[in-house]
Amino acid sequence: MLDEAVRQRLIDGARRAREGAYAPYSGFRVGAAVLTASGEIFTGANVENACFGATVCAERVAIFQAVAAGHRNLTALAVIADTPEPVAPCGLCRQVLAEFSPDCRVLMASTAGKTRLAHLKELLPLAFRWPPESGEGA
Ligand code: THU
Repeated sequence: MLDEAVRQRLIDGARRAREGAYAPYSGFRVGAAVLTASGEIFTGANVENACFGATVCAERVAIFQAVAAGHRNLTALAVIADTPEPVAPCGLCRQVLAEFSPDCRVLMASTAGKTRLAHLKELLPLAFRWPPESGEGA
């Protein structure tokens, strides 16, 4: 469950974090917030780089902030950008989220106020995990 007050806290956190985005190359500013099992919120924004591949998405910045502070169980992630429809996390961020919290909800939002809620399992079915659950000689 993700009640309305929690959704709003997450979206507000992501919206504020977005102001810290460093996006001189794409001009696309993204904010994210994650909710820990203990009820804390950690936030992040995208940080780009002249070497484009070194860019880190807002979602991963928020996830890594939480994980580095000792929170491995994340119950929800919110992401926000200035798009007509709510923005969806990229595949890499989905995989990183699955590492810690396969049972996570993902709240996608646009700055104009549209939202969409999904479960990580819908966004990343059959996520790769280590050790693999099936394989040769198992
Ligand atoms: N970006 C995010 O921060 N999150 C996403 O879910 C999609 C993409 C960033 C990365 C890059 O700085 C910019 O958006 C354009 O791809």
